[in-house]
Amino acid sequence: MRRRFIVAVDGPSGSGKSSISKLLANEIGFSYIDTGAMYRAVALKAHEAGINPDDNNGLKKFCSAIKIMTKGGSIFVNGDDVTERIREPFVDPIASEYSSRKVIRDLLVDLQRRLGGHGCIIMEGRDIGTVVFPSADVKFYLDAMDEVRALRRYNELLEKGVKVDYERVLRKIRDRDLKDSTRDYSPLKRSEDAVYIDTSRIGKEEVFEIMLKMVKEKLSNGDPGC
Ligand code: DC
Repeated sequence: MRRRFIVAVDGPSGSGKSSISKLLANEIGFSYIDTGAMYRAVALKAHEAGINPDDNNGLKKFCSAIKIMTKGGSIFVNGDDVTERIREPFVDPIASEYSSRKVIRDLLVDLQRRLGGHGCIIMEGRDIGTVVFPSADVKFYLDAMDEVRALRRYNELLEKGVKVDYERVLRKIRDRDLKDSTRDYSPLKRSEDAVYIDTSRIGKEEVFEIMLKMVKEKLSNGDPGC
């Protein structure tokens, strides 16, 4: 019996992929893996260690000694719980910068492949359907208009009590999109065989239902033994 089933969910920030992937994983009893959290965690630690993103040798040394562990909804780097800190707004551009470096991508893609090597998972990120698991069982690419994604991020920050300006959030989202989609290694792009869902004008519940239906259909074609 096959014991592996991978759902890849890619898309830019604010497309709704994290919250919907979590719901989906809960609903069908799959493990949920947030690869963005891994890039954030490594970037935060490299930044704190004073390693410049351009210092390839420094990054290599740093990556060879790093231990990343995920447990429940938490993420640890060398035993340090960074779950809360990686969500602070200052980490957004740092994560984007470090995640463009090959040495960091090699480290994390390898870890992600090992985590998804067996079992039934929903893995969410930017390059899951294109690079990490090009043969994933189901692939989704979630997207939304810049303005809508910025508004979601703006509201999220307000809810956390962070005072922000909407125009600034929009500018930052556009900067990050540009960086993530034009970098040399594994840029954000839609896999040709991914199901494209524009979440700009449809609610989370509807997106969830569309994705659930497709995953269930695929699961019914053969028992993955999940
Ligand atoms: O999804 P997020 O905003 O938490 O991701 C943080 C950064 O990591 C973002 O700039 C894109 C990058 N990332 C990536 O390059 N590849 C992934 N698979 C996931 C995230």
